[in-house]
Amino acid sequence: MDVALDRLGRPLRDLRISVTDRCNFRCRYCMPREEFGKGHDFLPKNEILTYEEIRNFVKACKPLGLRKVRITGGEPLLRQDIHHLVRQLSSMEMEVALTTNGSLLENNAANLAQSGLSRVTISLDAIDQEVHSKITDSKVPVTDILDGISAATRYELGPVKVNCVVQRGVNEHQIPKLVRKFRGTGVIVRFIEFMDVGSTNGWTQGQVVPTSEIIDFLSSEFDLTPLARKSASDVASRWAHSDGSGEIGFISSVSQPFCGDCVRARLSSDGKFFTCLFTTMGHDMSALIRSGGGTEGLTQSIEEVWSARKDRYSEERSSDAISLPRVEMSYIGG
Ligand code: GTP
Ligand code: 5AD
Ligand code: SF4
Ligand code: SF4
Repeated sequence: MDVALDRLGRPLRDLRISVTDRCNFRCRYCMPREEFGKGHDFLPKNEILTYEEIRNFVKACKPLGLRKVRITGGEPLLRQDIHHLVRQLSSMEMEVALTTNGSLLENNAANLAQSGLSRVTISLDAIDQEVHSKITDSKVPVTDILDGISAATRYELGPVKVNCVVQRGVNEHQIPKLVRKFRGTGVIVRFIEFMDVGSTNGWTQGQVVPTSEIIDFLSSEFDLTPLARKSASDVASRWAHSDGSGEIGFISSVSQPFCGDCVRARLSSDGKFFTCLFTTMGHDMSALIRSGGGTEGLTQSIEEVWSARKDRYSEERSSDAISLPRVEMSYIGG
């Protein structure tokens, strides 16, 4: 079968799979406790795809050109024996990466590496404990996350990346601290512009710190040189310390949207297929996934959805006000 192209000529190369909508953190910008507290209905267990079902979905995407999967959540390491899924996916000649908040990484890194995980990305918005606790609304020690990052490096789950979502007035002062902390370690820190995903995080444009501002600010302390993107569909722009002591990155989803080369699809843990981070509705594939038998029918359905895709939300953001309720990132995957 030919590679599937959407209506803007973009292939389906990268699938992000959310394996759970639960998380042990309550980041204010992602799962504010008022909305995701005791009264929140998380997905019931019987609706969550099994590892076998996820594998079948990935198998169905492969003939369409899929090359990479990223396991996300919620927090994927909350899912039992997640390395079993990693093993199944990595045996399919697929790059398998995982995004985690790092709190449970230290004890899982060995199993993940032995199961064939290619790379891990850790979310870390602050080095200072007080700031971290405030952002994540949790008491998890930052040292646990740093130990997780060290374990990922030790087990060669790299290049290890650290993602920091920057919010004005919340954690800009953590930016140079993060750069200093990881300089010379091989870990790539990336600063992400706070996005208007979901409907609960109270996003305003004023909370976004544009990449250009961060680069200007960092240039007073660090000598940085721009690097070329490895691939047009990479979300991050890359910069290097001129003395060779490492790389940092910027994900400018608000100030410089990158929809034109967007090759990413998402699968929620209950089997809904999303063609954009900002869509309101997913395409429910759960019945097809669970129907057993071969994956041909599923491949055909995925291709139909992908061929009709014309999403470019981040590029359209400024031109009109889309006010429909959007799915939450903790559900759809980061
Ligand atoms: P690599 O495989 O290491 O290149 O990972 P990645 O950069 O593709 O993925 P990662 O999940 O680390 O993405 C980092 C952040 O970029 C996410 O948490 C989002 O905030 C943002 N991001 C990723 N993909 C998209 C996307 O398709 N659209 C938008 N608007 N933002 C995205
Ligand atoms: N804007 C930008 N990035 C976000 N993430 C979660 N919510 C947002 C948002 N509103 C990021 C997290 C993590 C990944 C899963 O998604 O920081 O790195
Ligand atoms: Fe959990 Fe990540 Fe969302 Fe924070 S950003 S609540 S760690 S899923
Ligand atoms: Fe892709 Fe949608 Fe993000 Fe644009 S906004 S890069 S189309 S996921």
